[in-house]
Amino acid sequence: MNNIKQADTKIWTEKIRELNKGKEKKFHIMTMGCQLNENDSEKLAGILNEAGYIKTENIEDADIIIFNTCCVRENAEEKLFGKLGEVKKYKEKGVVIAIGGCMMQEKHITKKLNESYKFVDIIFGPHTLEQFPKDLYEKLSENKKIEDILDIDGQIFEGVPVLREDKIRASVSIMNGCNNFCTYCIVPYVRGRERSRNPQDIINEVERLASEGYKEITLLGQNVNSYLVSQKEKGEDVNFKVKVQAKEMIVNSFATLLIALNEVNGIERIRFISPHPKDFTDDVISAIKQSKHVCKLIHLPLQSGSTKILKSMNRKYTKEEYINLANKIKKEIPEITFSTDIIVGFPGETEEDFEDTLDVVKKINFEQVFMFIYSRRVGTVADKMENQIPEEIKHKRFNKLKELVEKQIEVQNKTYVGKSVSILVEGKSKNNKDILTGRTESNKVVNFEGTEDLIGKIIDLKIVSQHMWYLKGFYDKI
Ligand code: 5AD
Ligand code: SF4
Repeated sequence: MNNIKQADTKIWTEKIRELNKGKEKKFHIMTMGCQLNENDSEKLAGILNEAGYIKTENIEDADIIIFNTCCVRENAEEKLFGKLGEVKKYKEKGVVIAIGGCMMQEKHITKKLNESYKFVDIIFGPHTLEQFPKDLYEKLSENKKIEDILDIDGQIFEGVPVLREDKIRASVSIMNGCNNFCTYCIVPYVRGRERSRNPQDIINEVERLASEGYKEITLLGQNVNSYLVSQKEKGEDVNFKVKVQAKEMIVNSFATLLIALNEVNGIERIRFISPHPKDFTDDVISAIKQSKHVCKLIHLPLQSGSTKILKSMNRKYTKEEYINLANKIKKEIPEITFSTDIIVGFPGETEEDFEDTLDVVKKINFEQVFMFIYSRRVGTVADKMENQIPEEIKHKRFNKLKELVEKQIEVQNKTYVGKSVSILVEGKSKNNKDILTGRTESNKVVNFEGTEDLIGKIIDLKIVSQHMWYLKGFYDKI
């Protein structure tokens, strides 16, 4: 594929090392937004690590502060500008301040930064992330302000170093961009059109992760089940001959990618976010069914339960089609569970439309619901719609949905009590060092008493009690 390039970060990170020779430099990254952004932050951390910088959680110690921004909802903007006000004081001691991420693709934001936040040193976008070491080198060596933003779609860069947060679970991006243009969503404007990574590069990365001891991977993309589709539509040959653990296979779709990754020794769990219901083809269902390591929890964004609102959102499915899809998957894979994203207060949403959303929530009985209040995004179709919903109605509906979801989860959690479940042990609980924490395949958090050697293992334990956000387990083989 001609849009895939090898990154040349090393040339620049070595120059930065030379510049900083003899000095201990530290970096601090603040990530806003989705898992794709977190994945980008791990790349930025990898780049800075290669350049000789050490990571610090303490912003006051940092020589460079990076904000990796998101623009999916409005509150991220308030958060960024608030934080910028706080870090301005560090400029006096020569700290470099850089801002990257999706928000930098929005012209009104960069304009505001250039006019009112002149102390920011580097502005870069998601398409220029791999050039960050070059930007930083130029800033450090010439002390000039850098703005490095590409309006075009950008390419896929392989070989960018990564410094991962977690030692058990890793995210792996498989595609970038989105072609769907849901009318509320800014992502297609800031992340560009869909482009997929080469399957062998993905497999190599997952094999490397397995050899480093990772047990769970989450495949990331704005629309993972259209992996390779846009290349196919352009008439490119997408039948890739790949090698997985020395075995030859063909990958030509999301389904075949799942089947190939299922072969990687050591990877116990494979998750993916997010698929689009309209592209959830039968081959994907059968790939999930036949692949032991693919988790039987599907994140299937609903957005709204009203066919009228779904049409206005440009989601390309009806309420009935969504329910039928979920039922079809359940029929094929009886142990399947679902999680979802829902937006309340989209323009034109009536009480009746909202009731449709509640109705789907009742029918599907999701394991987890990510709930969002509709947020107007400049440049999207929905922002220009006239029938915007007043804030207090949006909040009222949000609370009503939340109440229903919490009730359902409570009932659901009760069904776990007394049962034996398999969990992947992730580490020590953040709040209590004597407690270990892990997750079920359906992504429920389970806390239990156990010894450190269990971290990274899949174990069976008994659920003894349920709480709103976690289950308590008992492991009897200590
Ligand atoms: N307002 C509120 N929520 C949104 N999302 C995307 N755009 C908006 C918006 N303008 C939500 C969708 C998506 C999730 C990642 O964020 O539910 O699935
Ligand atoms: Fe946004 Fe829709 Fe694309 Fe998801 S599928 S990134 S909601 S436009």
